[in-house]
Amino acid sequence: MSASERRRSARTAVVWEALERALEHPAAYWEQGARVVDVGGGTGGFAVRLAELGHRVTVVDPSPDALAALARRAREVGVEVAGVQGDLSDLPTLVDDDLDVVLCHGVLEVVDDPAASLATIREVLRPDGLLSLLVAQRHAAVVARAMAGHFPQALALLADAPDPSAGRANHRFTAAEATALVADAGFEVASVHGVRVFADLVPGSLLDLEPGATAALVELERAVSERPEYLPLATQLHLLAR
Ligand SMILES: C[S@@+](CC[C@H](N)C(=O)[O-])C[C@H]1O[C@@H](n2cnc3c(N)ncnc32)[C@H](O)[C@@H]1O
Repeated sequence: MSASERRRSARTAVVWEALERALEHPAAYWEQGARVVDVGGGTGGFAVRLAELGHRVTVVDPSPDALAALARRAREVGVEVAGVQGDLSDLPTLVDDDLDVVLCHGVLEVVDDPAASLATIREVLRPDGLLSLLVAQRHAAVVARAMAGHFPQALALLADAPDPSAGRANHRFTAAEATALVADAGFEVASVHGVRVFADLVPGSLLDLEPGATAALVELERAVSERPEYLPLATQLHLLAR
């Protein structure tokens, strides 16, 4: 495993494990693979791996560059992933409205209205369809801004006020806020995991030089991911909901 793959696995292991567990118990008609849309799926880190597991995956993303990188990545591993250029708010006009799974990872932060976005996702999922939502967790972001000396930005984030230096939406969520948003959109929240509690704090060189360090870090991330006292330290929150 390369150094960058080691770091990526430490950052995404908790999300993958929760997602794979949820997809292990599909409804009967998932036999030919779940119909998955990864909205804001970017260059396909998740989408391509889901396609490798046999699911039928479409990425909807406004960035043509990201979609081109997605196509290259899918070609390299020999799977098909459809790429559709578009915005989350147009999802009902871009994809079927009875999807089994929608991934929305790292997107709710930059949309104007997160509640409206979740309602749009609800529209395209079949009843009992699965939402995998990954969002930035506010308190870790406050600490990161403060540690970098960006005190006004840290203060603005603390109050969820618009960041004066950011040109666009820059939402961050607490676990309670993310859970309430998802529930208000008509979902039942099945799990909330803290992601990257330690992974972003550990120097990369430690993972590169210390044999077994990545596996031990993943085990630690897994152990703290469901402990409520560690949620405010997590860089991201991963929610699964139906
Ligand atoms: C932080 S990246 C996350 C990429 C990927 N989901 C992941 O977790 O690795 C955010 C992605 O959302 C896309 N995006 C930004 N605004 C969007 C919108 N309104 N609707 C859909 N996608 C959007 C960007 O083009 C980018 O690919």
